[in-house]
Amino acid sequence: MKLMKKFTAILLILVMVLSLSACAAKTDDKTSTDLPTIGVTIYKYDDNFMSFVRRAIDSFAKDKAKLEMTDSQNSQATQNDQVDAMISKGAKSLAINLVDPQAASTIIDKAKAAKLPVVFFNKEPDAAVLASYDKAWYVGTTSSESGVIQGEVIVNAWKAHPEWDRNGDGVMSYVLLKGEPGHPDAEARTKYSVDTIVAAGIKVEELELQTGMWDSVKGKEIMDSWVAKHGDAIEMVICNNDGMALGAIQSLNAAGYFEGDKFMPVVGVDAIPDALEQIKDGKMVGTVLNDAKNQGKATFDLAYNVAMGKDPLDGTEWTLDDSKAVRVPYVAVTIDNIEFAEEAYK
Ligand code: GAL
Repeated sequence: MKLMKKFTAILLILVMVLSLSACAAKTDDKTSTDLPTIGVTIYKYDDNFMSFVRRAIDSFAKDKAKLEMTDSQNSQATQNDQVDAMISKGAKSLAINLVDPQAASTIIDKAKAAKLPVVFFNKEPDAAVLASYDKAWYVGTTSSESGVIQGEVIVNAWKAHPEWDRNGDGVMSYVLLKGEPGHPDAEARTKYSVDTIVAAGIKVEELELQTGMWDSVKGKEIMDSWVAKHGDAIEMVICNNDGMALGAIQSLNAAGYFEGDKFMPVVGVDAIPDALEQIKDGKMVGTVLNDAKNQGKATFDLAYNVAMGKDPLDGTEWTLDDSKAVRVPYVAVTIDNIEFAEEAYK
């Protein structure tokens, strides 16, 4: 009988402890459902640079908002469906990394119908489309700036290394790995990097230009064929981003470059950690910091403020330009300021 009593007492305590912890869990649930839901799309998770922007958005959202974040897998149709789902799940604002920069109006139509604010980021919509909806903003960069800065990095390095003009003809023979055609960053980087080199009085010859779609593997494949075709006649490898530059370096490594005095100058954009390693190893001349952390922060800050019904810039240090865009500056990166770039990606 005594034993039975003891057993019942233990059972009672157990029940109490269990129901108490259930209560605690419920309270937690309540706080998380009190946070506003923000719908976030990334054009594809399998993109080097965007994985850092994604990480930044995630970390700035901690304890402030519930993110409904999806991988649009490089399909605009998929992204459109994801946006519909976010709206029906009660998102209070949308943060959209378009797949197709031309699809901004489709997203705006959906947001307008649901009376939801939308912050586009990374792929800049046409100014007229953004202006067509008073609850639409953009967070990104001034695309041309990255091309100009990349051009300056190339000019400085080329002038410091006359031996890079291997055939001594006074002309920089370059190949260019382009990002996604039609992407404002890819178009501007391609144009302004070369324009800046020419404006500095350096003659250029374009041996090859092809899109590697921002992708390392594609960058390597294309570089393999260019090295086979032109070999040492290539004197500069200009890449619209570091992902493709890393692919090109892999290809050049396999072809025996970066050993002894066999060298090939490669430049990129983004300053992702893997590229910084290549700069430290002397295999990459330089890159341009595309500030993933601050672009992620600005995207979250604006999307959060508008989700709370506040002014997009409330309590932030960001400013909007005439086209309702926050533009985070680019910075040149070489071995001389590598620590600064490493810091930016932490
Ligand atoms: C660019 C970046 C690329 C790629 C692209 C995706 O700003 O430099 O590496 O991530 O965005 O839209």
